[in-house]
Amino acid sequence: MSVFGTPSLPPHSELFQFVRKGDERGSLVALQGHDNVPFGIQRAYYLTDTKPGVSRGFHAHHQLKQLAVCVSGRCRMLMDDGVTRTEHWLDAADKGIYIPPMVWHEMHDFSVDCVLLVLADSYYDENDYIRDYAHFKALVQKF
Ligand code: TYD
Repeated sequence: MSVFGTPSLPPHSELFQFVRKGDERGSLVALQGHDNVPFGIQRAYYLTDTKPGVSRGFHAHHQLKQLAVCVSGRCRMLMDDGVTRTEHWLDAADKGIYIPPMVWHEMHDFSVDCVLLVLADSYYDENDYIRDYAHFKALVQKF
């Protein structure tokens, strides 16, 4: 279930609070494309063993839709739609953030135990990346 009306996020970004199915054995969170994930899932990748002080991301995508969840530990997600720059802690395995196309994003302050899972709607394509912030700003100002 998404948390609508979250004022600290750029337009079209959404925080997701997933259902945690817990019992005496532990907890389980299920992610399903076109269900509690707002796109069809074609790819998953995850970041682990991020060295202390290292930040990652620093790009936007032309088309790619992604959803990020810290399944272990935490990190700070910075998102920037070219107008609004916001930050959010991903610090629970049942909390996700939707990263739409054309939103610059950076991940900072990874805990040593952080496992950041990212679901994506397309295969990896370097041509879909915008890695230069000035270029990103120029593109979003055209809209
Ligand atoms: P990179 O895009 O630099 O990570 P980030 O910008 O999020 O810190 O990706 C690191 C390397 O992994 C780079 O060589 C591209 C490769 N890669 C894949 O092969 N497949 C993928 O799905 C992703 C996300 C990256």
